[in-house]
Order: sequence, then C-alpha cells, then structure tokens
Amino acid sequence: MSSPSSTHPLPSYLDPQHLGPWGIYLQQVDRVTPYLGNLSRWVETLKRPKRALIVDVPIELDDGTIAHFEGYRVQHNVSRGPGKGGVRFHQDVTLSEVMALSAWMSIKNAAVNVPYGGAKGGVRVDPKKLSKAELERLTRRYTSEIGLLIGPTKDIPAPDVNTNAQVMAWMMDTYSMNVGATATGVVTGKPVDLGGSLGRVEATGRGVFTVGCEAAHRTGLKIDGARVAIQGFGNVGGTAGKLFTQAGAKVVAVQDHTGSIHRAGGIDAHALSEHVQQTGGVAGFAGADVMDNDEFWGVDCDILIPAALEGQLTEANAGKVKAKMVIEGANGPTTPEADDILNDNGVLVLPDVISNAGGVTVSYFEWVQDFTSFFWTEDEINARLVRIMQDAFSAVWQVAQENKVTLRTATFIVACKRILHAREMRGLYP
Ligand SMILES: NC(=O)c1ccc[n+]([C@@H]2O[C@H](COP(=O)([O-])OP(=O)(O)OC[C@H]3O[C@@H](n4cnc5c(N)ncnc54)[C@H](O)[C@@H]3O)[C@@H](O)[C@H]2O)c1
Repeated sequence: MSSPSSTHPLPSYLDPQHLGPWGIYLQQVDRVTPYLGNLSRWVETLKRPKRALIVDVPIELDDGTIAHFEGYRVQHNVSRGPGKGGVRFHQDVTLSEVMALSAWMSIKNAAVNVPYGGAKGGVRVDPKKLSKAELERLTRRYTSEIGLLIGPTKDIPAPDVNTNAQVMAWMMDTYSMNVGATATGVVTGKPVDLGGSLGRVEATGRGVFTVGCEAAHRTGLKIDGARVAIQGFGNVGGTAGKLFTQAGAKVVAVQDHTGSIHRAGGIDAHALSEHVQQTGGVAGFAGADVMDNDEFWGVDCDILIPAALEGQLTEANAGKVKAKMVIEGANGPTTPEADDILNDNGVLVLPDVISNAGGVTVSYFEWVQDFTSFFWTEDEINARLVRIMQDAFSAVWQVAQENKVTLRTATFIVACKRILHAREMRGLYP
C-alpha cells in the first residue's frame, strides 16, 4: 500500500509568494538540516508553528468610537518547556512575522539552554496614536483574548518593540484577575516592585559584552584598547558601550536616529548615555565630532555592534566594514547577503540568536524568582548571566570549529539539535 502524503511544504494560511521573515527562517532551517544527523527525521516539526492564535481586539476609543485591532500569539515549539517570547505593538506586524520571531525565540532559548520553547505575540496597532487609557484597554483585551494560551507554565510573554514594563504590569494584572490570584510569573520584564528582576534592563547589553569578550579571547583580539563602533545607544547599545569602556575599550563612533558621532581618541560612554537620556539622542553631544551617516559603517574600528534595527548591514555597506568582529545586539541587523560578504572578508559575526540572548536569560531568572518568591541580588544575577552566556558561546564556538561553519549556522545546529532531541525523547502523543 502506498503511504499517504504526510507533509505539505507550507501551511495553507501562508502565501508562498509572500512568506516574509518566515521564508528567511525556513532557509535557515534548511541550511542546518544536513548537520542534524538522525535528528533530521524530526526537522519538519521546526517548519510549522505548534499553535497560532489570531484574535480580534476591540476597544472603545476615548471619543466613544469602537476600534478593532488584529492580534496574534504564536507558539512555535514547546518541546523544551513553556513558550517564551515578547509582545510587539506595531502597525505592520503580520502573522508571518510573528511566526518567524517565535521560531527565532525557540532557537535563542535553546542556544542559551534555558528551559523554554519559543513564542511571540503582536498586535497590529500604532501605539503612538493611542492615549494611555486606550493603550491600557488594548493591552487588557489582548491579554484576555490570548488568555487561553498563556500562563506561568504554558507561555510567558515579555516586552518587545513598543511594549514595556507598564504594559507587562497590565498584562500580569489582567491575567491575575481572570484566574483569581496574583500570577507574577505569567510575564517577565515587569517593574521590579511587581516581581520584576534586578539586572533585567542591562541584561541584553551585558550579554553582548560577554560574548564579545569570549570571542575576542578566542581570536586574540585584546579588549583593552579595542576600538568599538555602535549603532543605537539605547538600552542594548548604551549598556554594551559602557561595559566595553569599563574593560578598557574605546567607543570611537556611535550612530542613532538623530545622527552619527565620532572621536578616534574615545567617546565617554557614560557621559554620552546621560546626554541621550536628557536629549533623546546622540546629536549635539559635546564630547565628539559629527560624522556623516554614510561613513559610519566604514569607520576604523575593531568591534562593530549594530544595536538598533533589523536589516542595517546590507549588500550595499557590508563591504565597507573594517571591524574584525560584528556583535549583533539588535534582532536581524544583517541581511543574508551581507552575512556572506562579511564572512568572505574574514569578519567574525556573532549572531543575534546568541549575542542578544542575555535579555531572555534574565527573564528566565525573573520567572524562577517569581515562582519561589525569593529575589536575588543584582550581583548574583549578573554572575549567573555571565556564566550562562559563556557556556552557551563555548558550545557554539566548538560546533563552528568542528563543522567549519559560521557562528550563525553553529548556533542553529546547537539549538535545533537540542529542540529535536527533546522532541524525540518525548515522543509523539498519543
Ligand atoms: N532590550 C532588550 O532586552 C532586547 C533584547 C533582544 C534584542 N533587542 C533588540 O535590540 C535592538 C535595540 O533594542 P533597545 O532595547 O536597545 O531599544 P531602544 O529603544 O532602547 O534603543 C534603540 C536605539 O536605536 C536607535 N535607532 C532607531 N532608529 C534608528 C535609525 N534609523 N538609525 C540608527 N539608529 C536608530 C535609537 O536612536 C536608539 O538609540 C532592537 O533590535 C531590539 O529588538 C533588545
């Protein structure tokens, strides 16, 4: 008897011509499949989300009209533990994008070996157009609508683009009201007074710094005296800049949405951070010279840290990069074409799925502290974060050496093997 056709290449709800970020993710999985050995038997499980929920989020606006917004929560994979991933409020969010982001969370969580699967959520809304009261109503209704999927042992949202600690507080409160008990562990990235964790705000930048030091150590690059260029001087870029400076490196160039600044002798990262907090950007900082935005990517430096937006290093500018190492603080800052150019030019790229995993690692600590209602000191948190990032990087580095692949492919190999091994050990239900 011929076997029934068991596998469709794409879910019926996706348009093969417009796969968006999900298409990039599928290519990444295809690229690592040859390295998965016997586990490749399970690889189809990575090519479709476990669950994708689309919800209608109606709210009453301040002027009395009713507005409807489209929301999503996608759980890509929960073989290794509950879903974990942020919630994005943005007018251009699509199901395909949330699916890809949820899949990248599966990879990131497995790469740093925290006991989570991958998930992500989003609402198609421009939150800047909402009043605070409207934003709260939107958050609460969205949380109620996805309430059947989320929970401290099921799926734990966190902040992402345009969501913050206040939004997490509203999500935690809404979920808690619905279940009839305070459930701090349902979201992470909460205010510290509501079960949030010390060290969470700096965690991603600290992770960027930690993997940078690990890679520098292995490639003979001295951090003391190294020249660093950073795009984005917000949470991630600003923290990384300060930590590299403390370790003896020099921040020589910074670009953000207000412009680019340069000083070959080194920019005072702490003073710049204060300036950014006071004025909203790097423009007008007295301790550096203005630089043309186009010159930023070709600046003389040893370490380049894109920590702002996706798609910044492209075919057009990757060839100009003089740095020996790129540490991806942002999600998806390097296009696949730029990745190849950097690799051909001998620039070591530390990929986002490991470099910016410090945030989710301290989110994991927040969740653990919420369960035990016992809160750690900032020093304990930072020490545990550094250890996890070092161990994770070490495993990825070893796989890259053994297979002679890039660190991005190596991270996918490590992560996909962990996910599929869990899948295999659990077996298929029923
Ligand atoms: N915060 C986290 O824990 C975390 C975790 C993982 C990944 N990330 C990623 O890191 C990146 C930065 O996040 P963040 O929390 O530091 O955000 P943030 O809002 O604190 O800072 C963003 C920075 O990007 C700059 N920027 C915005 N538009 C720009 C443009 N057109 N050109 C140059 N610079 C521009 C801003 O000026 C700002 O300095 C994002 O891609 C985010 O998804 C953040």
